[in-house]
Amino acid sequence: MKVLVVGGGGREHALAWKLARESAVEKVVCAPGNGGTGPSVHPIDLSDPSSILACADAEAADLTVVGPELPLSQGVHDLFRANGRCLFGPSRFAAQLESSKAFAKVFMARHGIPTARFRVCERLDEALAMVSGAEFGFPVVIKADGLAAGKGVTIAHDLATAQDAVKKAMLEQQFGNAGLRLVVEECLVGEEVSFFAICDGRQALVLPAAQDHKRAFDGDKGPNTGGMGAFAPSPLMTAALETRIRREIVEPVLEGMKGDGHPYQGFLYIGLMITLDGPYVVEFNVRLGDPEAQVILPMVSEELAPLLEAASRGALDNMTCEQTQIPHVGVVLASGGYPGPYQTGVAITGIDEAAALDGVLLFQAGTVQRDDTVVTSGGRVMTVVGRGAGFSDAIEKAYLAADHITYVGKQLRSDIGRKAL
Ligand code: AMP
Ligand code: GLY
Repeated sequence: MKVLVVGGGGREHALAWKLARESAVEKVVCAPGNGGTGPSVHPIDLSDPSSILACADAEAADLTVVGPELPLSQGVHDLFRANGRCLFGPSRFAAQLESSKAFAKVFMARHGIPTARFRVCERLDEALAMVSGAEFGFPVVIKADGLAAGKGVTIAHDLATAQDAVKKAMLEQQFGNAGLRLVVEECLVGEEVSFFAICDGRQALVLPAAQDHKRAFDGDKGPNTGGMGAFAPSPLMTAALETRIRREIVEPVLEGMKGDGHPYQGFLYIGLMITLDGPYVVEFNVRLGDPEAQVILPMVSEELAPLLEAASRGALDNMTCEQTQIPHVGVVLASGGYPGPYQTGVAITGIDEAAALDGVLLFQAGTVQRDDTVVTSGGRVMTVVGRGAGFSDAIEKAYLAADHITYVGKQLRSDIGRKAL
């Protein structure tokens, strides 16, 4: 099988790494790729499905796996189907589970899936009334409906902050069209877990559950980021909890989407809050997480390509997904200043030395190869993953590898994985 991996982050490097080691896979191309995967010969625009189809055609890809949500929300699945090409990822309609928080909430309400009480607000006066405290108390959660690069959620602890968030979104259009409609909801209390499944429209194979670290600084302080590190398996995920999540969330999602005429095929990422009342859905994503993919994919001992190909045909019957329970900890190395402004084009050293360490994997993200050196090109530069007999061993390996990597402005958290100890 020739496989095209769409994207250029650490998640896509991990997907390409995993697929390239499989016997069913003859060649993997990653587009646009990065300094770790190598650049793609055929340039693509992630917001333009036709450029992705042209790349798959040029590479004669038997299977295309989409990393980020943008191409899915732009209908890349639908275009591939219309042209008879195999792609693993949900349709444009189904991708609304991520691209519209209002769609996801209304879907969950219709299908009895546990989630925070909410109201979809189209008008300013309605949104201001909903954040007054009368309906949901404080803190209250205010979410832009559309894709807002992870910045569309405010947890407001008082009325002034809540009103400010509503006005910034609806009047000042801080998130453009994505914030003209808001979801206001109650604040859930508990521990967050990222739950992943491979779905074929009717059934699901569960992948290891992970926990990520979204804030920029140690102790979960500072601004929200795309993710500064992750670990798996999540010690919060017991067999009983997994059974409950399958029954109360995964199965109703699959039945609901099928019943609505849009069977869900693709990775399903369920952002969960484990509350005293059980698992609640905080959000759906229609892809793998980043940096969660970098820690969960190395745990999958099964060949992924045949599973993804079968899932895209609705044919996961009798297939299994073997996985190890060995702890994996991934530390993101970022550019100084991330998630704010940062410098790019900075030379990185130590990549080969770090990658050669025992029990270490290295997945590049915001990097490009320039002549003989790899230089930074993005906010999240790479994820270094340590694996070991226990979490403390995995943490030690990840940080040992992180120490070998040097570049001006290197920024990382020093407490990734500690929650698992
Ligand atoms: P989202 O973009 O929906 O994943 O929200 C970003 C983050 O905001 C989540 O990972 C949670 O940490 C937090 N969050 C979102 N909704 C809620 C909620 N209803 N209660 C508590 N925290 C939330
Ligand atoms: N790690 C969070 C995400 O991928 O959305």
